[in-house]
Amino acid sequence: MSTRFSSTTWTRVAAALTLVAAGAAAHAAEPVKVGLMLPSSGTFADLGKWTVDGFKLYVQQQGGKLGGRPVQYITLDDESDPSKANENANKLVKRDKVDVLVGTIHSGVALTMAKVARETRTILIVPNAGAGEITGAMCSPYVFRTSFSNWQPGYATGLLAAKKHKTAVTISWKYAAGDESVQGFRQGFEKGGGKVLKDLSLPFPGVEFQPLLTELATIKPEAAYVFVAGAGQVKFVKDYAAAGLKDRIPLYGAFITEGTLAAQGDAAQGLATALHYADGLKIPRNEAFIAAHVKAYGTTPNLFAVQGYDSAQLYDVGLKAVNGDTKKKAELIKAMQNAKLDSPRGPLTFSKSHNPVQNFYARVARGTENVVTDVVAQNLADPAPDCKP
Ligand code: PHB
Repeated sequence: MSTRFSSTTWTRVAAALTLVAAGAAAHAAEPVKVGLMLPSSGTFADLGKWTVDGFKLYVQQQGGKLGGRPVQYITLDDESDPSKANENANKLVKRDKVDVLVGTIHSGVALTMAKVARETRTILIVPNAGAGEITGAMCSPYVFRTSFSNWQPGYATGLLAAKKHKTAVTISWKYAAGDESVQGFRQGFEKGGGKVLKDLSLPFPGVEFQPLLTELATIKPEAAYVFVAGAGQVKFVKDYAAAGLKDRIPLYGAFITEGTLAAQGDAAQGLATALHYADGLKIPRNEAFIAAHVKAYGTTPNLFAVQGYDSAQLYDVGLKAVNGDTKKKAELIKAMQNAKLDSPRGPLTFSKSHNPVQNFYARVARGTENVVTDVVAQNLADPAPDCKP
C-alpha cells in the first residue's frame, strides 16, 4: 500500500525539520558553560593551575570546542576550604547555571561538590580529589572522577614498598585523603607481607614535621610512607633529607615527587613512588601530550595536567554523543560511562562507580623526571563495595 501526502503535509514536515535544524544550530553556536572550581590560592594553588591548564589544552586542540560547541569558562577559587564549598558549588550551579562542574583538588571540598551535583542533577567531573565516598557510598550517575580514589595510589605504593621492606611507619595529614591513603598503603603493604608499626599524623595543611620525624627515627621501621601534598610535600621531602633520614629509612609516597622535583632538588633524587602517570612514561600519546604542553605553556606537564586534560576529554566524548545537546543527560552520561580514553597515562576506562580503571607505575625520581621502572598494578579498579547506583 502506498501512502500519499498532501502538499500541506510536506510543507509542515519541511517546517518542522527546519525548526529541528535551527534548534540544533542554536545550541551548537551557544557556548557550553564549564564551571572550574579549583584552588588558585593556598597549599594546592599550583595543582589547581596545572589542572586548569590541562583542561584548556585539550579544548584548544579541539579548536576551542567541546562536543562541537564553543566553551565559556566560569572560574572560582575554592581555597581548598571545605567550609565554603557548599556556597561556592551552588553559586556555579544555580547562579551561573553551568552545564558541567569540574573540581577539585581537596577531598573535603569535593565531597560537598558531589553532594550538590547529586542534588541538582549537575554533571560533576572530579579531576583530582580522591575521597572514597565520592565514587563509593555517595556514588551517583552524575558524578565522574578522572583521577583516583585515595585507596588506589596508597594500595599500589604499599605493594611497591613490600617488595623490599617488612615494616613501615606512615605519616599523613589528618583528613579524608590522608586517612584513606594510609589505609590503602596498609592493605597493599600487608598483602605483600609487610606490617605497619604506627600511623603518625598532623592537621592539614600543617608543615611542622619535625616532631613526627623524631618519633619515626625512634621507631626505626624499614621504610616510611607519607601522604602530604602540594606545597607541603616540598617541605616534607627537604625536611626528611635534612634530618638525615633519607639514607636510613627509605621514604615512599604516591604523590611526593609529582610536579615538585625542581623545587625539591637533591632531597628528592632516587625517591620511589607509585602513581597512575609519569612524565617519563614512554608511549607516543604521552610524548605528544608533553610536546603540546611545552608548546602551549613552556613547561613539562605532570599528573595534575593529565587529569585536567582527561576531564575535558571525557566530557567531550559525552557531548559529542548527543551532538552538543546537554539536555540529553541520560545519553550523555551513558557515553561518558562507556568512554575508552586514550590518555597520556595509558588506557583509561571507568568502573561502574565512575572511578578510573588504570595502570599504576613504579617510578623513581631522576633529575627532574619520574622515570618508569615497572608496572605495579595493571588496570587497577577501586572495588567500591558501597556504591549502589
Ligand atoms: C585529596 O585531598 O584528595 C588530595 C589532594 C592532593 C593530592 C592527592 C589527593 O595530591
